[in-house]
Amino acid sequence: MNGDLYIRDVRISKEIPKNNYLSKLPVVHNLCAMGKLQFNKKVTFLVGENGIGKSTLIEGLAVAMGFNPEGGTVNFNFSTNDSHSNLHEYLTICKGYKRHRDGFFLRAESFYNVASNIDELDAEPGFEPKIISNYGGVSLHKQSHGESFMSLVENRFFGNGLYILDEPEAALSPMRLMRLMICMQKLVDNNSQFIISTHSPILMTFPNSEVLEITKAGIKAVDYKDTEHYIVTKRFMDAPEKILESLLGE
Ligand SMILES: Nc1ncnc2c1ncn2[C@@H]1O[C@H](COP(=O)(O)OP(=O)(O)OP(=O)(O)O)[C@@H](O)[C@H]1O
Ligand SMILES: [Mg+2]
Repeated sequence: MNGDLYIRDVRISKEIPKNNYLSKLPVVHNLCAMGKLQFNKKVTFLVGENGIGKSTLIEGLAVAMGFNPEGGTVNFNFSTNDSHSNLHEYLTICKGYKRHRDGFFLRAESFYNVASNIDELDAEPGFEPKIISNYGGVSLHKQSHGESFMSLVENRFFGNGLYILDEPEAALSPMRLMRLMICMQKLVDNNSQFIISTHSPILMTFPNSEVLEITKAGIKAVDYKDTEHYIVTKRFMDAPEKILESLLGE
């Protein structure tokens, strides 16, 4: 059924020691209770409250698939002081029939370090073409956060790819977010799979996607209109003055 996906499902296959904080995370409890978390669509959104464990899960998936824990393609292997968990050691991933030919892991906290690593590698003599030519040609440090992120997607994502993105909306204006959705559709049409953690009610409307809402009670597929993010944002935008009045007592 979902054999054309690069990641079909994931499960926890080893017991996590009690003294590892991961053993107390709601998302980990949920995964254990479910047996496996299945992916059904080419675009999956992970949504849920701050701290529920979206980034931890997405990083675990990325590292288990061979990406550098700090982000980038599978070819990046730089390391800084940024912390990441060892969840990947406890995960078993069921892969699809075909292997992805392109891929990128965007770790929200360390895109800056990916940019630095490209500049450092390109500063070394002898390597042509420069890596940055794959990213639009201008150092990602010389572009704004949103510009550099769109350069990455528009120039570096080739299709037939596995793209694991942690809150991509953090960099983007609403207009650019819609541009990202146009790029995503082209990449999906070209055999790509996206797994994205997001708080964006705009992004989670993406057609033919699955929204997995993570709560303390479990992980379940929901209509985006039933997510807390969508309901709260819509209520607020429908009547900001009224909500602010009750919040701020003015
Ligand atoms: N090294 C650590 N030791 C103990 N707890 C940790 C450690 N690293 C992360 N945590 C905890 O793990 C939990 C899950 O964090 P995670 O970043 O995965 O949440 P998230 O769902 O991505 O949240 P957000 O929406 O804010 O990005 C948090 O409560 C965090 O405090
Ligand atoms: Mg997070």
